[in-house]
Amino acid sequence: MTSQRIKHILTSGQPGETLTIQGWVRTQRVAKKFTFIEVNDGSAMSGLQVVAGEDIPGYAESMERISTGASVAISGTLSESPGKGQRVELQASSIEVFGESDGATYPLQKKRHSFEFLRTIGHLRSRTNTLGAVFRVRNACATAIHNFFQEKDFLWMHTPILTASDCEGAGEMFTVTRFNLDDIPKTPDGKIDYSQDFFSKPAYLTVSGQLEAEIMAMAFSNVYTFGPTFRAENSNTSRHLAEFWMVEPEMAFCDLEGNADLAEAFLKYVFSYVLEHCPDDMAFFNERIDSTLLETAENIINSEFARITYTEAIALLEAAIEAGQTFEYPVSWGIDLQSEHERYLAEEHFKRPVIVTDYPKEIKAFYMRLNDDNKTVAAMDVLAPRIGEIIGGAQREERLDVLERRIEAAGLPKEDYWWYLDLRRYGTVPHAGFGLGFERLVQFMTGMTNIRDVIPFPRTPDNLEF
Ligand code: 4AD
Ligand code: MG
Repeated sequence: MTSQRIKHILTSGQPGETLTIQGWVRTQRVAKKFTFIEVNDGSAMSGLQVVAGEDIPGYAESMERISTGASVAISGTLSESPGKGQRVELQASSIEVFGESDGATYPLQKKRHSFEFLRTIGHLRSRTNTLGAVFRVRNACATAIHNFFQEKDFLWMHTPILTASDCEGAGEMFTVTRFNLDDIPKTPDGKIDYSQDFFSKPAYLTVSGQLEAEIMAMAFSNVYTFGPTFRAENSNTSRHLAEFWMVEPEMAFCDLEGNADLAEAFLKYVFSYVLEHCPDDMAFFNERIDSTLLETAENIINSEFARITYTEAIALLEAAIEAGQTFEYPVSWGIDLQSEHERYLAEEHFKRPVIVTDYPKEIKAFYMRLNDDNKTVAAMDVLAPRIGEIIGGAQREERLDVLERRIEAAGLPKEDYWWYLDLRRYGTVPHAGFGLGFERLVQFMTGMTNIRDVIPFPRTPDNLEF
């Protein structure tokens, strides 16, 4: 069955054209001798208005079976629409109902539902206007990301999901095993006998593709990964998921400044692309979710990001406290910036994204390049208004001896990182990269306040339903 997508009909369908659409009924309004039906197929925010006259075959029976949520194929002829808000409408000549939708139990009613409620119906919520717009924008963000890197000659590398190494060294990994958990093999001294497990050693879900991306950058110069990552941190916040997607470019022959330049150009590109390709969805978010959204987006595209060091950031926060600003968490040199601090800097102080560099080595991962002061590392976080940290990255430690000392100081088993160290033995180069939390980007783009509403099937503590 050939049919047309509603998005194209709305923009370029011509009166007089005959065609077929397929989709789900959003609303249905019965008039005297005909019925108005709005059909949505997910291709656009708006559906197509169908006018079904009582003379079409099986009219009474079809109208009986049609209600909100029902799936239909409707053929007919386009005509100019007298109604406002739409250019054309479809005068139906035949209607096929695939599946009815019991109006008494269908959970999506005409009224506005809370996002909390919609999360409980994860199998149906994508049929709402807001979630529909979110997932179209999410798709556009992903396309923009690939376009950006492909245009710049970065190779897309698929890094593994199953891994033996903890990239971030934060111990937040999910374990993967084939053991029967009720009967785990033990060694004579009572420890878990991993030699009997699938990989003969402990295995985990990856927290980041970075270490493998570094391997590939040492062969292809510029690469990126874009895949799911997993973190078993028990943070029940509006910005954390246990399973999220990360975009990680890695560049050989690149320092921290080049890394920051790439991150800034990258975010600007993605924002421009989405504004151009999803104008209706973005206008909807601006109207319904956050009235400053379009202005913020233009601001991101047109203004330079602020760039400061961690030490300067602490000074700014301390000055803010002096001036009466209150924070829940205390501020002093050496603390890990909390989301309230990050948001203050981006939202209140700079009113635009800010790139903070050179954090204390104690609070950052082992692979970040040690600065000459011996106290800080060449780290880089991009902080966004409303979101806080959206990107985390660094120039990597390319010096073998320094890296070995950093791995030891972090208490990580050096033997597990033998191949990572080898990269510093054979043709090492200065290199840098970053990780963008893809869902945080979609949050930033759409203004959605909870990260659970920008991924189709969120995984968070206690949530694994759909
Ligand atoms: O700052 P992170 O931990 O950096 C890394 O994993 C590096 N290996 C990346 C690299 O240099 N290649 O994570 C990167 C980004 C964060 O800035 C944040 O946007 C996102 O990933 N992120 C999360 N997003 C959703 N839920 C979580 N639990 C997240 N943890 C991190
Ligand atoms: Mg980080």
